[in-house]
Amino acid sequence: MVKNNWWQKTVVYQIYPRSFQDSNGDGIGDIPGIIQRLPYLKELGVQVIWLSPIYQSPNDDNGYDISDYRKVLPEFGTMADMQEMISVAHQLNLKIMMDLVVNHTSDEHEWFQQSQSSINNPYRDYYIWRDPVAGHEPNNWLSDFGGSAWEFDVKTQQYYLHLFSKKQPDLNWENPKLRQEIYDTMSWWLRQGIDGFRMDVINLISKQNGLPNDPDVNANSHGSSMTFVANGPNVHQYLQEMNLKVLSQHDIITVGETPGVTTADAMRYAGFNSNELQMIFQFEHTEIDNSREGLGKWSDERFKLVDLKKILSKWQNDLEGKAWNSLYWNNHDRPRVVSRFGNDSQQYRVLSAKMLATTLHFMQGTPYIYQGEEIGMTNVNWPSISQYRDIDTLNAFDDLVNRQKRVMPEKMMTYVHHSSRDNARTPMQWDNTKNAGFTNGKPWLGVNDNYATINVAQSLTNQKSIFYFYKKLIALRQQMPIITNGHYQILDIDDESVYTYKRITKDSELLIISNFTDQVQTRHYPLNVGANLLLSNYEDDQGDELRPYESKVYFSGI
Ligand code: NOJ
Repeated sequence: MVKNNWWQKTVVYQIYPRSFQDSNGDGIGDIPGIIQRLPYLKELGVQVIWLSPIYQSPNDDNGYDISDYRKVLPEFGTMADMQEMISVAHQLNLKIMMDLVVNHTSDEHEWFQQSQSSINNPYRDYYIWRDPVAGHEPNNWLSDFGGSAWEFDVKTQQYYLHLFSKKQPDLNWENPKLRQEIYDTMSWWLRQGIDGFRMDVINLISKQNGLPNDPDVNANSHGSSMTFVANGPNVHQYLQEMNLKVLSQHDIITVGETPGVTTADAMRYAGFNSNELQMIFQFEHTEIDNSREGLGKWSDERFKLVDLKKILSKWQNDLEGKAWNSLYWNNHDRPRVVSRFGNDSQQYRVLSAKMLATTLHFMQGTPYIYQGEEIGMTNVNWPSISQYRDIDTLNAFDDLVNRQKRVMPEKMMTYVHHSSRDNARTPMQWDNTKNAGFTNGKPWLGVNDNYATINVAQSLTNQKSIFYFYKKLIALRQQMPIITNGHYQILDIDDESVYTYKRITKDSELLIISNFTDQVQTRHYPLNVGANLLLSNYEDDQGDELRPYESKVYFSGI
């Protein structure tokens, strides 16, 4: 019998607090709202909640720009609310994982205010300051939200680095005092009773020696030099230090957000013996439909199933026995999965959402469900850019349409519909009352029009809903060790319509078959003697005939 760590058998649910549940009518979700909804998450059966940032922040990037790590944003509540949330969650056996955003702070953080005040300030070296080079930026790096990654400070006549917005200056991890401050903050939160950390862009904390130019960007590239700036020379040293000083002292869950990683990198970050993190979020499958014209995620291309299978299979195969996968379809930065990889039409939304859930939840790793995914929430297609709030979306529109004049506005709107982060950030749809039961006030971001039919209340009254399907998947993971430990084997990797794989242990086998199309597909997969249908998104089984978006799982063995 393989002995698993608890976090290998767990299912995580991500809450984006701003959009989850408002309790005081200001149109912004808050911590008391989350507390009200904890029983709902208990009913779903997840065991861990990942909270996107709730810290003090001027909200240039919705809380990913933190101005005080030890304070709660008043819009979200108080520290007492946080303590109550942790305690109620623990009574329900739910763990709380906090978002740790330490590649950068807000420019309104006390450290940055000090740092900016003079070249000789003791905090100057907490950030990355450089002299101009020939009157220009120190190098050609670009911010992930568009434009240069450097901002000139008139007072002190130097540039500071910001890989995200200019209100998110990058911290200088080379400074041991800064590192210790971060570790102290982490320990402080652990003393408040939290159970883990999701670490924001943690593989960006170590910058390339000498900050060399990125050979792949030019002035018109849109967005990031992420791949170039990621995985710098000291990142593993810093994470091992963090592990030694903080993480290893606690029985917690950790996951690092790591853009631009390969499976070889993953083995270093999240190898079973690497003493860094327990798992990472890789990005390959979420970049599968990126623009072929160098516009990054700003595209409206439909993904190809064969590419998806190749990526996910590579991650399953390469990490097996060596490191641990995270499994996710979407989060607060990615479009809704049912719209992206499934079919959000009235006819196929439920079927395809269940098909996607099945495909992911039978893989090896720790699954992450993003709020609303469990009821099949969809993208929004708002006609005007003025309806969007996300800094990344607004900057990209401005850059590509207004400044570079590279994309026509109508075309850009199709990209926005396809890729904007606001697709995932529209308020949670609780019921069919005004504003979907999210708020009595004016929601900070529009509610998706389809809330009258797609909502939690409706899902809970219908045993055949996507919600109960997820509940079943979560429960099966607890009951069947093969889902955690079975060997993954892809069948027919070049099949453009059907995703079929097995999970195999010494004495049992799962066969997972998913039709990713709206057409009937006929495939023959021989079944083992005694194989039983364990799960399906249709009422009956038609053997080799796979109906639109049909997904089924057979189990054989003991
Ligand atoms: C990744 C986060 O998920 C995203 O929302 C944020 O904008 C960037 N990191 C910067 O913190």
